[in-house]
Amino acid sequence: MPKIAQYSDLTLRPRSLDQKLYRWFHNEIRTSVLEGKLAPGIRLPSSRSLARQYGVSRGAVVAAFEQLCSEGVVECRVGSGTFVRRTLPGVPAEAKRSNSREAGVESGASLSSRGSFLVRHPFPKIWSNRSAPVFRVGLPAVGAFPTGLWSRIGARRFRQSTPLLLSYGETLGYRPLRNAIAQYLGLARGVKCTADEVMITTGTQQSLDFVARLLLDPGDRILVEDPGYPGAVSQFRAAGARVVAVPVDEQGFNCAAGRRGYKGARMAYVTPSCQFPLGVTMTLSRRLELLKWAKKNNAWVFEDDYDGAFRFSGRPLATLRSLDASGCVIYSNSFNKLLFPTLRLGFLLVPPRLVDAVTAAKSAIERFPPVLDQTILCDFITEGHLGRHLRRMREMYANRLEVMVRAAREKLSGFMDLSPVHTGLQALGWLAEGIDDAEACRSAALNGVDSVALSTLTIDRSMPPAMLLGVASADDRTILRGIDGLATVLRGLKKRT
Ligand SMILES: Cc1ncc(COP(=O)(O)O)c(C=O)c1O
Repeated sequence: MPKIAQYSDLTLRPRSLDQKLYRWFHNEIRTSVLEGKLAPGIRLPSSRSLARQYGVSRGAVVAAFEQLCSEGVVECRVGSGTFVRRTLPGVPAEAKRSNSREAGVESGASLSSRGSFLVRHPFPKIWSNRSAPVFRVGLPAVGAFPTGLWSRIGARRFRQSTPLLLSYGETLGYRPLRNAIAQYLGLARGVKCTADEVMITTGTQQSLDFVARLLLDPGDRILVEDPGYPGAVSQFRAAGARVVAVPVDEQGFNCAAGRRGYKGARMAYVTPSCQFPLGVTMTLSRRLELLKWAKKNNAWVFEDDYDGAFRFSGRPLATLRSLDASGCVIYSNSFNKLLFPTLRLGFLLVPPRLVDAVTAAKSAIERFPPVLDQTILCDFITEGHLGRHLRRMREMYANRLEVMVRAAREKLSGFMDLSPVHTGLQALGWLAEGIDDAEACRSAALNGVDSVALSTLTIDRSMPPAMLLGVASADDRTILRGIDGLATVLRGLKKRT
């Protein structure tokens, strides 16, 4: 149940001289409710405080409230106050909405061309049933996050918050956090860097926006993986860039194909440690090839390492950033995936030669990011909790994956074949011939199972039908229920082929 808003003041239009006090209160409140200025369910200020605010007798306000109550516009609850009714008698929703627009001709003020680009490319609605807990793509095991520990660190930080923490911060982010991230990258991802090169963002989406603004002009070409992450594609298109699809095969992004067809592109966007959505790891030779291409074309490479920390078998390959000798790689990662999505904290690791430009641009855009959450995250990392949490999650995700694979082998054989998963929080299930993946995802959603159709993640290519399933957020019982649900759906669809 959402919390009910409450105001201590109410702004009314001035009273005309010939208007009775009680009529004025009545008309003004009634009109505000019908125009939607006072939302359904809102608690009005008490008659006493309204009378005090306007310097009038309380009796006039009480009389107005009584009249509104008898008309069904508000309801008076003894001991709680006076509330705008959630449904208003005899007023159709449409009338309420149109009343709320000021009468007269609409203004000719319009969007900028940059605004129009943005409107045409919102964040893609790729999920078929966002409310379904089973197999939700991209969602870590938020139920296993140590919220008690996090809140204790937060409370301690608030208790100790010095004027320094409450004043203006550093443009690129809280320096001790940037230090902690630089150390984490060295240990966990083999990246040699300093805090000066780390810039805090609200996550990958903001990092992409920032990089696009700073490094891409409208009309520039950018190479992206096909199939690929639609959140990145929409971001680049919103910036006016021309998206050039480069096929991904079992070795990852095929730069040779890109180089032949698309010389002179300004940037490449890749997910080398765990390609989204195919899950393949880009081979070392492909990584070196991509860096060679970037150097030759004076291009940038955006390395999205979103799931790189969740590797279940084998040794992780060196990141592009750690192989980069010419300073063209911009490395991105997100605590929204490592910890929980509403945290909205991520970072970019920029090449040293970009640090000054990035600092100036960031200061113009947002001065500096919010500090308190950064301090909590900083303590979480430096006190060793991040390392412990990631180890726990890796183990939990590997177990959940095993449960899913075993159940799928038993119940989905003949309908779906799961690709082996070595890294990341999702598995791709290839569907039997003749089953349409978009239809399968829609039907699965009706059975409480979330998924993403591979066909919605391709750009130019046509691929065999497959469903992307999240493996991290559901416990074993929920996974088994989800596989049963999928079996029912796929059996039904297969029968029709
Ligand atoms: C490929 C990829 N990169 C990055 C992210 C994380 O994005 P953000 O930090 O904006 O939540 C996701 C989330 O699903 C993703 O799929």
